[in-house]
Amino acid sequence: MHSEIPQQRLQETEQKRLLLLCTTTGYQTRAFVEAAEKLGLKVAFGSDRCHKLDDPWQDGALALRFENPSESARSVVDYARSHPMDALVALGDRATPTAALACRQLGLATNSPEAVEACRDKYQARRRLESAGLKVPSFRRFSIDENPGAFVSEIEFPCVLKPLALSGSRGVIRANSPQEFVEAFERIKSLLLSRGVQVLREETSRFLQVETYIAGREYALEGMLMEGRLKVLALFEKPDPLEGPYFEETLYVTPSRLPSETQQRIIQGVQRASEGLGLSHGPLHAEVRLNGEGVWILEVAARSIGGLCARSLRFEQGLRGLSLEELILRQALGEDISEVHRERAASGVMMIPIPREGLYEGVEGEEEARRTPGVEEIRITAKPQQMLVPLPEGASYLGFIFARADTPAEVEESLHRAHKMLRFRISTVLPVV
Ligand SMILES: Nc1ncnc2c1ncn2[C@@H]1O[C@H](COP(=O)(O)OP(=O)(O)O)[C@@H](O)[C@H]1O
Ligand SMILES: [Mg+2]
Repeated sequence: MHSEIPQQRLQETEQKRLLLLCTTTGYQTRAFVEAAEKLGLKVAFGSDRCHKLDDPWQDGALALRFENPSESARSVVDYARSHPMDALVALGDRATPTAALACRQLGLATNSPEAVEACRDKYQARRRLESAGLKVPSFRRFSIDENPGAFVSEIEFPCVLKPLALSGSRGVIRANSPQEFVEAFERIKSLLLSRGVQVLREETSRFLQVETYIAGREYALEGMLMEGRLKVLALFEKPDPLEGPYFEETLYVTPSRLPSETQQRIIQGVQRASEGLGLSHGPLHAEVRLNGEGVWILEVAARSIGGLCARSLRFEQGLRGLSLEELILRQALGEDISEVHRERAASGVMMIPIPREGLYEGVEGEEEARRTPGVEEIRITAKPQQMLVPLPEGASYLGFIFARADTPAEVEESLHRAHKMLRFRISTVLPVV
C-alpha cells in the first residue's frame, strides 16, 4: 500500500484545478461540476451563500462577498497561494467582477473588470452602447425615492421600466399610459425594497430605468469571445410574442429561420456591442430585437445562458460531443475552441412560466407530454408545497421542456404540444385574517 502514496501525490499535482465562483448550488453548478469531472479537473468553490461563517458548509468552500469584488478578489488571490488554480470561472453574473479582478491578478485570461461591471448595470451598459454608436432606445435612470408623478409627463409611451441589476425579466414591466407608468414604478420599487433583493446589497437596487419600448421579434445569441472575436455558438429565436406587460421568456429555438444575411446583421450587432461594452473573453449571452429600423441590442451579459437552458445546446469537435459547460471550462483552461460547432439537429427549450401565484401541488399529463414526438426531456423543477410567484416579482419557472427535431418549426410545435398537455395544480393561498 505504502508504495502507492507517491503515485497518488503525483496524480494530485498533475491534476488541473478549477475554482468555480457561484451563488447557489442549483442545477447550473451541478452541470459545471459534471463537466469538470469529465475533464478530470479538481474543483473548489468560492461562494457567498453565507457571509457570516468562514467555512459554513464544511466543504472547504471559500466564503466570499460578491457585492464587494475587490475584497473578494483579494481573498481568491490569497487562497490561490495555497491552492494554485489553472482556471477560474464565475457562474451567473453576480460573481463576474470578482472573477475578472482575480483572474487579472493571477495572470489568467479574462474580461476587463470594468466591462463586466458595466454589463451588470443596465444603465452603465446603455451608456457604453450609446457612446459606441449602437442603436439603443432612449433611456433614463430614476432613483426609487423619486416621485413618479412628478416626471411622468416627460415620458414617451409605450415604455419599459426595469431594475438595473436583476435578470430573467424580473421586475421588467411595459407601461402604455401615465397611470400604468406610476403603477409599474411603485411595483418595481417594492420589489427592489423586498428582503430577497436587499440582501444582495447591490448599489444598483436604489434605481430603475425607463426605456422606450422597441417593437419587433426577439432573438438570443449564445457565444464565446476569443481575444475580442465573437464565436457564435447558437442564435436562438424566441418565437412566442414578447409584448408585455411582463416578459416571460418561454420558448428558445435554434437554429434561426432568418435569412443568413439578417443573421449576419445580428451577429455584427452583437460583435460591435461587445466591443462597445469592452468585453473580450469568455461566454456571452446577448438579446436583441429586430424591426424595420434594424438590430437593437437589448442586453449583453458576460455569462452563458442561465439555468437548465444550456441543456438545449450540444456541440461537436471532430467526433467528440461537448456540453456548453465543457466548452466554457476548456476555454478557461486556455484550450482552442475555435473549431467547435453546434450539432446539426434543431433544438429548443421551453421555460414553463408560472401562470399564477399559489402553492404548487403537482402536475398531471407529464407522461403523455413526454411521449410527444421530438420531446427529449421534461424537468419539473417546482417542488410540492412550494410558493409560486409569477413575473414580474418571481424568479423561477415551473420547469423546462427540451425538444430536438430536424427543423426549428418541428421543435417549436413539439414544445407547444407538450406544454398544452401539462396540467399544473396550484392552490390559492388565502390571506391570513
Ligand atoms: N426597451 C425595450 N423594448 C421592448 N422590450 C423590452 C425592452 N427592454 C426589455 N424588454 C423585454 O423585457 C425582457 C427582459 O429585459 P432585459 O432588459 O433583458 O432584462 P433581464 O436582465 O431581466 O433579462 C427582454 O428580453 C424583452 O423581451
Ligand atoms: Mg435579458
